[in-house]
Amino acid sequence: MPTILVLNGPNLNLLGTREPAVYGAHTLDDVRALCEATGRTLGVAVDLRQSNHEGVLIDWIHEAGAAFRAGTLIGVVLNAGAYTHTSIALHDAVKGAGVPVVEVHISNVHAREPFRQHSWLSPVAAGIVVGFGIDGYALALQGLARRAAAGS
Ligand code: DQA
Repeated sequence: MPTILVLNGPNLNLLGTREPAVYGAHTLDDVRALCEATGRTLGVAVDLRQSNHEGVLIDWIHEAGAAFRAGTLIGVVLNAGAYTHTSIALHDAVKGAGVPVVEVHISNVHAREPFRQHSWLSPVAAGIVVGFGIDGYALALQGLARRAAAGS
């Protein structure tokens, strides 16, 4: 069964208690359950990970690139948290790894502070899902599965 890697960046381990008015009441375990259930309907395995460390996320994207080339992985769903707005290194990792990456944000970053309205990931992303709460992860998984089925 093909795999999709779902990567979560800094502070997303705090989902459920962190600014619930912005990010909702769902926890990262809820996100995991949603992704696994969505994966079952799509016929893909979901490997969900979270790290507060930029370099760890970069290593995982490199790993995803190798798995994509090996044909075992069809893409990455990436909520890079605040690294979205700061990390040229993550931009380079996505570009260099050559794996389709869908950028996800729980909140509508474009309706928030100006510093959240620039993303270093959007120019290298295969797609972007913003502002649908945790449902955005399910939408991103569907997008990647459909993209793979279409052979792109
Ligand atoms: C976020 C939006 C980012 O601006 C923020 O730093 C996060 C979460 C989101 O999912 O809405 O940590 O990526």
